[in-house]
Amino acid sequence: MEMIKRPRRLRGGETIRRMVRETRVDKASLMYPVFVKEGSNIIEEIPSMPGQYRYSIDRLCRKLDTLSDAGVSSVMLFGIPDHKDEVGSGAYASDGIVQRALREAKKEFPDMYYVTDVCMCEYTSHGHCGVLCGHDVDNDKTLKLLADTALSHVEAGADMVAPSDMMDGRIAAIRTRLDGAGFTNIPVMSYAVKYASAFYGPFRDAAGSAPSFGDRKTYQMDFHNSREGIKEALLDVEEGADIIMVKPAMSYLDMVAKVKEAVNVPVASYSVSGEYAMVKAAAKMDWVDEERIMCEMAASAYRAGSDIYITYFAEELAKCMDEGRIG
Ligand code: PBG
Repeated sequence: MEMIKRPRRLRGGETIRRMVRETRVDKASLMYPVFVKEGSNIIEEIPSMPGQYRYSIDRLCRKLDTLSDAGVSSVMLFGIPDHKDEVGSGAYASDGIVQRALREAKKEFPDMYYVTDVCMCEYTSHGHCGVLCGHDVDNDKTLKLLADTALSHVEAGADMVAPSDMMDGRIAAIRTRLDGAGFTNIPVMSYAVKYASAFYGPFRDAAGSAPSFGDRKTYQMDFHNSREGIKEALLDVEEGADIIMVKPAMSYLDMVAKVKEAVNVPVASYSVSGEYAMVKAAAKMDWVDEERIMCEMAASAYRAGSDIYITYFAEELAKCMDEGRIG
């Protein structure tokens, strides 16, 4: 039998496999989402996300220490306020939970890179991502509050803001507000291609942010759609987004690849709470190998085109990268 081409030649041993590897990963691309709440000396495990916690500000600082030791250099902050109201005023209060956490954390760990999630759903009594007009979210009124929120984060020390609300026009509204206040150099990472997804379930438990009625389908995208995601990504780049995010990651890697082709800015993917919870649950049953699944999920996100990978496994992944088990 004549067979000139034998793909197995390049798989013959670890050395050659590593030599021809197409996807190489770097800890610098990892971003860790973390929940911060009111109070002190609190570290509360999130039941549907074993290994993930809600931290009070003092405890958050200790976590930041561990993260930077592991080589994770950026975090994305989510706030869990004590008080919620109709207009989500905690989101843009100068002494809100995220704003205070930023001031404190920046003082203690100035080298960490702080990204903030800009949204209203953790702060509104109804749990929607903006202010309501009847039973729907009022897009244009919400824009002002999102811009207020972004500015208050930046004033408190955020290095980057990441709006996740999916209102139309929010990137332009935020960019204009930041620029008007002199923050022309603060990047905006847009959750541009964000689907209405059941994968956010554990997050909503963690943040107490499930909508009290209806769902988020009038603003988050229908998961049957692909071209609509490109439309969102292109619009946001036009409005000034510096980085485009696709979310969730695992079931949406087609979108990561397509967005990567369509835009000329870095692409982030967010492996969300439900992805994490599924791995944890299956591993706990001894049905899958947690570490190998985690590495495989991460590699696939990078392979699809992610420049930045946002994951609750950031610290564990950093270790695997150090030990050469991935990348
Ligand atoms: C806020 C927001 C959500 C997530 C990130 N930002 C929840 C939602 O849209 O319902 C989900 C993150 C995760 O599931 O890990 N809008």
